[in-house]
Amino acid sequence: MDRFLIHGGVPLRGEVTISGAKNAVLPIMAAALLTEEPCVIRRVPDLSDVRFMGRILESLGASVTFEAGTLTIQARQIQGYGDYDLIRKMRGSICIMGPLLGRLHEAKVALPGGCAIGVRPIDLHLKGFRALGVNLDIAGGYVHATAARLAGTELFLGGRAGPTVLGTANLMMAATLADGITVIDSAACEPEVVDLADFLISMGAKISGAGSPRITVTGVKTLHGADHEVIPDRIEAATFAIAAVATNGEVTLQGARADHMQAVIDKLREAGALLERKGPALIARRGPSLRPVDVTTQPYAGFPTDVQAQIMVLMTIAPGTSIITERIFESRFMHAAELARLGADIAIEGPSAIVKGVPSLSGAEMMAGDLRASAALVIAGLAASGSTEILRVYHIDRGYENIDLKLRQLGARFERLKANPNAPENTGGE
Ligand code: EPZ
Repeated sequence: MDRFLIHGGVPLRGEVTISGAKNAVLPIMAAALLTEEPCVIRRVPDLSDVRFMGRILESLGASVTFEAGTLTIQARQIQGYGDYDLIRKMRGSICIMGPLLGRLHEAKVALPGGCAIGVRPIDLHLKGFRALGVNLDIAGGYVHATAARLAGTELFLGGRAGPTVLGTANLMMAATLADGITVIDSAACEPEVVDLADFLISMGAKISGAGSPRITVTGVKTLHGADHEVIPDRIEAATFAIAAVATNGEVTLQGARADHMQAVIDKLREAGALLERKGPALIARRGPSLRPVDVTTQPYAGFPTDVQAQIMVLMTIAPGTSIITERIFESRFMHAAELARLGADIAIEGPSAIVKGVPSLSGAEMMAGDLRASAALVIAGLAASGSTEILRVYHIDRGYENIDLKLRQLGARFERLKANPNAPENTGGE
């Protein structure tokens, strides 16, 4: 497996272009199953999760081409079940259920397993499908969903941790071809859900309220092809902003949507960062000094759980005590133990991490556990003095396009040590 070798202590300086949002692309790719016409999706990041989803769609019978950041998908003739081994490996693939049920009234998928950050249930997805009139046969680790028809209805999708992002996406997609009107209450408000709704509307779907907790979908008979440019990745932008502040550099995030990042911008400013909007870009640098902050992850527009690990790294070198509370996933502090190897002082108390700032981190070998934790370890290595080696970097390749190239362009002393080409690689995950 590839490893990263980082010689830290170098302030990041320069400009980085933010790629398209992974968490918008995956459900939008699935939405292309709703029509037999071709769909063109632009600003698609070249990520292993995107390629994985492409293979899943091909296993269902769709044709998928991916050239220079543009995906063309045509699901002319498809079947309701694909390559289980592929589907089982990537949680995001669960969002093929909604389109398959909308188009074929049938879907058979492997129940997604848990992952490093939690159990990852799909009970809310299934509850919504049942409400639309879908029969669910769950056996042997698979769910076989069938329906004579999909009947629009009122759905409540709130769970113990609030709304479900992919659950909202799944039900919104199924409802586009259901009979009648579907109202989704406690819908997720993430920008990626809005981007999916925009794509569906460009296919001829009738959707209102996306971005609010109540989404209304009026079913139509068929949908047509569309051409759509995906929103920039707010999580990648937040990751590079924090790396700039942690290394005491100055980075221009070209194409970042500050309006999608208000909670992160607000919290970073509280922590002593200087963030300035400049046209279609956001400039991030450290102010006179870092300050400890308390963070609680929440559904959008609150502080995103996908940036929790990254801001924890910044707090390990902020003088004082910070409390970081994870309210979305039940075990998303794997990075804390790895950061301790660099000298961080972090105590886990239930859903909270108590972080006591230290003057500096010093490089060590670390192992990545999940996608966003991997990004946090990279930031730590960049900020630490000395050398850091990060193992299992296939996690990071799932969600960050060309991260080594982008960081080297910002002056980082960063190398990817290629693994033995015959070594087994894992891919897919959260
Ligand atoms: C999406 O996952 C993102 N993934 C995740 O990003 C992100 O962390 C998460 O939303 C929360 O923002 C993609 O979009 C591909 P949820 P999703 O359903 O939709 C519970 C990354 O790093 N829940 O919103 O799977 C669940 O256990 C990834 O890019 C149920 O209880 O997350 C969690 O506690 C990691 N029952 C909470 O809701 C359900 O049926 C939020 O999960 C579904 C979810």
